[in-house]
Amino acid sequence: MKHLLKLLDCKQEEITAILDLADQLKYERKHNITHRLLEGKSIGLIFQKSSTRTRVSFETGIFQLGGQALFLSSRDLQIGRGEPVQDTARVLSRYLDGIMIRTYEQKEVEDLARYGRIPIINGLTDFCHPCQVLADLMTIREKYGVLNGLKLCYIGDGNNMANSLIVGGLKMDMNVSVATPEGYRPDKTVLNFASEYGEAFTLTDDPMKAAENADIVVTDTWASMGQEEEKTVRMKAFQGYQLNDKLMAAAKPGAMVQHCLPAYRGQEITDKLFEEHADEIFEEAENRLHAQKAVMVTLMK
Ligand code: CP
Ligand code: NVA
Repeated sequence: MKHLLKLLDCKQEEITAILDLADQLKYERKHNITHRLLEGKSIGLIFQKSSTRTRVSFETGIFQLGGQALFLSSRDLQIGRGEPVQDTARVLSRYLDGIMIRTYEQKEVEDLARYGRIPIINGLTDFCHPCQVLADLMTIREKYGVLNGLKLCYIGDGNNMANSLIVGGLKMDMNVSVATPEGYRPDKTVLNFASEYGEAFTLTDDPMKAAENADIVVTDTWASMGQEEEKTVRMKAFQGYQLNDKLMAAAKPGAMVQHCLPAYRGQEITDKLFEEHADEIFEEAENRLHAQKAVMVTLMK
């Protein structure tokens, strides 16, 4: 594995290896076993969108591995003034050992990998959020011990999270059901990929049907970063797609709830349900740290 651009590029064995290493690194952190797996290495963190979890978990993650992070806001980089990504990639490749980028277009991430000579990690694009879904898979596997055969249900916007959950879930032999309103379906390339999985994948506009017998129910904001102006229209379009007690009654008793955060209580999830599942949701947030440490070690060692 050279880069983490999207889960579509990853093999099942590669995902499993990252999850295994993440479990080990989490165990070691909890037991104060320190190591310097990335001693002297530097990762650049390019942010064209806001972040709490991604920034902090990458910064502390590389520090715990003996390396350092450089926070590179696009406002300060020459990228923000129009320097092409091809040139930025070739320059940064000469200083750094890896780059994490959070941006809008997936093409920008792919271009960095194409023109640069160092590992590129996708820290979220409009298309996908692979680091988050690796942490989600880790959290689910911690609870259930396995991934294969579990039913993962996603309710809400067919956004970057939906795209990565579909691909990650199916690649790990899970059954994936998705409910979105008609005009807010996941990306076409993802739906094409999913169509190869037969009955393991279902797409509907009926949230109750999607949630039936689910082991894990996941949601995300109804208006992602960059969609702020569509907020009013979106709030209407997603009525009926909220995670609440009624919806959870259709899932398996004791089903898990995951949310990548930030959460908008009263919109995609009720405050009550969020608080009842807060331990699972914040474990998921913590696991960003361990999963990304595993990604950095895999790609940058
Ligand atoms: N879930 C997630 O990526 O959070 P941030 O936007 O805070 O990084
Ligand atoms: N879908 C959300 C995820 C935030 C972590 C967004 O892109 O804003």
